[in-house]
Amino acid sequence: MSFTTKIFEQFDKKWALLTAGTKDKFNTMTISWGGLGTLWGKPVATVYVRQSRYTHDFMDDNDYFTISFYPEVYKKTLGILGSKSGREIDKMHESGLVAKELENAMTFEEAEVTLVCKKLFKQTLDVNNMLEDIGKQFYEGQSDHDMYIGEVVDII
Ligand SMILES: Cc1cc2nc3c(=O)[nH]c(=O)nc-3n(C[C@H](O)[C@H](O)[C@H](O)COP(=O)(O)O)c2cc1C
Repeated sequence: MSFTTKIFEQFDKKWALLTAGTKDKFNTMTISWGGLGTLWGKPVATVYVRQSRYTHDFMDDNDYFTISFYPEVYKKTLGILGSKSGREIDKMHESGLVAKELENAMTFEEAEVTLVCKKLFKQTLDVNNMLEDIGKQFYEGQSDHDMYIGEVVDII
């Protein structure tokens, strides 16, 4: 299992799809905030999902999620998946991506890399514990972020 990347660019510049659910019922959304590292002696990925996202329901209801990265040509597709909700549109139809079933999770055929993550931890980012400026900028009038940490169990 290996994955070499410029970590400060991988999420911020390249973006990714965060996907949770099963073949029959899954959802995906674009993310650009996240991290990769080590915790509890395991390789982990961390993502931040606002409670208002439809994907949030799937993150809570499933034990695994995937983080998948795409060639530059899919940037427009990721833009669509990051601006419309699966509550309002059929994301698979609108994006044209082809869903791919893995042993415990879902990804897409077009992905160049998929991190398969086993959910280990979830916690809401408490606005009272962050710098006031950040709280004002990112959370006034907007729902909180839940942080999910997953063990990276496979890299495809
Ligand atoms: C480039 C980009 C990055 C985003 N990053 C995040 C993120 O890290 N966390 C988050 O909660 N929403 C993020 N979003 C917003 C969601 O992708 C967007 O609200 C999406 O429509 C949610 O879809 P859903 O309701 O089907 O889950 C991002 C959007 C874009 C375009």
